[in-house]
Amino acid sequence: MSRILLGLVMLGCNVAVEDVHAFDDPITRLVNDRQGERCSGRVEVRHGHQWGTVCQQGWDLEDAAVVCRELNCGFVLDIPSGARFGRAGGEVLWRDVKCSGDEFALDLCERTLNDVCTHSEDAGVECTGKLPAPTLSIQSRFYAYSTGEAVHFKCTAPYWQSVIDFHLYKRGVDTPLVTQRADPRQMMVDLTLSDLEISHQGSYSCLYRIHSKLGNSASGNSPHSNFINITVLEIHTPQIWYNTSPEARPGWVTRGHGFNVTCSTQPQYPGGSFQLRLIRPNGTVRHSLPALAPSVTFTFSNAQSNNEGYYCCLYKVQTGERTFISRESQPLPISIRVTYARLLQSCTLLKPSKLALICNF
Ligand SMILES: *[C@@H]1O[C@H](CO)[C@@H](O)[C@H](O)[C@H]1NC(C)=O
Ligand SMILES: *[C@@H]1O[C@H](CO)[C@@H](O)[C@H](O)[C@H]1NC(C)=O
Repeated sequence: MSRILLGLVMLGCNVAVEDVHAFDDPITRLVNDRQGERCSGRVEVRHGHQWGTVCQQGWDLEDAAVVCRELNCGFVLDIPSGARFGRAGGEVLWRDVKCSGDEFALDLCERTLNDVCTHSEDAGVECTGKLPAPTLSIQSRFYAYSTGEAVHFKCTAPYWQSVIDFHLYKRGVDTPLVTQRADPRQMMVDLTLSDLEISHQGSYSCLYRIHSKLGNSASGNSPHSNFINITVLEIHTPQIWYNTSPEARPGWVTRGHGFNVTCSTQPQYPGGSFQLRLIRPNGTVRHSLPALAPSVTFTFSNAQSNNEGYYCCLYKVQTGERTFISRESQPLPISIRVTYARLLQSCTLLKPSKLALICNF
């Protein structure tokens, strides 16, 4: 059906279309003595019920590219001359085929009916065949990374002798992010995306490029591999500060009073939490709260000497297989002090003349 439609379109452009074919009959085929090689051979076209050949006079890459496309055979690798694929029985039907290279079928190309060529000049094509898609995998098997890390992808192609290079694509970006040349016979390459940024989060695939014996002008891309999604997290060092009753001196908290230590960071991720560490000479005490807001406050209602030490905040988030922990915030020193008034209350004046005190706190 589409062939008839295309024929009509071309007629409208004053290109001669000689044959009106039945709907689904093939017009072009490749004939080869070797079994199983569907995508290379002598080019044959059908005229009515007769199959005939095409003369290599004027036969070029663009013409061959159309044959490979029409037969779903990938890209042109070569156009062997001199009837390499054996001689045909029928007539040499066409010569001077002039495809632009973009046609969907050979019979949409301009040509001249043959009156001069013999079978020794039959045109042939070697196409790549339908290129198999490569496989993309991730070497670390992690799908979540923090900024600055590297992700090592692995792209594996089925054996193909003419692979030039491999490319890593991010979905939505036209140019490859990473390109790796292929050594001969190397069918697996590492594609490393280093120094990850937030903008690298997304969906990735790879493909390989092959080249024909005729130079890069006839190169082609394989289909895309499977897609792999990666997540990139930006984990910043949290800020830390504290609040207490206004009369206390900076860095001090009055014994028996309340104080709050606040941890804060942005951005945050689902499942994140803040850890508050109190570092004391006789060990570290840890408190943890879910990060339900950019700032989370740890409340201590009754300051005692065991609350004294250096406080640090950390932000922690778990995504499937990995746990990301921020660096420790600046250490915040907090001293727990008794007020002068309280100090005096707990002392007994022994000898008023010598100002000797016994204190009990
Ligand atoms: C990968 O991300 C896309 C959106 O960018 C989503 O449509 C797709 O389902 C995701 N695939 C997997 C395997 O998570
Ligand atoms: C500590 O935070 C609580 C609420 O979380 C508040 O009621 C209290 O006044 C705060 N204390 C200080 C000393 O800021």
